[in-house]
Amino acid sequence: MIGRLNHVAIAVPDLKAATDQYRDTLGAKVGAPQDEPDHGVTVVFIELPNTKIELLHPLGENSPIQTFLEKNPAGGIHHICYEVDDILVARDRLADSGARVLGTGEPKIGAHGKPVIFLHPKDFTGTLVELEQA
Ligand code: CO
Repeated sequence: MIGRLNHVAIAVPDLKAATDQYRDTLGAKVGAPQDEPDHGVTVVFIELPNTKIELLHPLGENSPIQTFLEKNPAGGIHHICYEVDDILVARDRLADSGARVLGTGEPKIGAHGKPVIFLHPKDFTGTLVELEQA
């Protein structure tokens, strides 16, 4: 059911330091910071030949990234995103298998303008999983 790895999202306490490191030390192609107020994050997209990395930093109050950084002050992998052909088919299949979809269970429009859902990390080996309709 799942297809390509769309991105790996990494929460970072210092967005500039992390961006500089990816650009200057790792030699990656990094974009400009983008505020995503609906998601409570500022994102820097990093294009790799076969996937993307997203550096996430808290934006505004009650950012979901803030809580994560309190538990992981140095930063860390926040979630991974797999592509699916049909988000509703994927959701229903997962719900039937007993996996928990976060929030209302209805897809939201994600950072790339496409419908996404998130799956409970306790149901997926401790990893927050995002599914995005490709
Ligand atoms: Co994501």
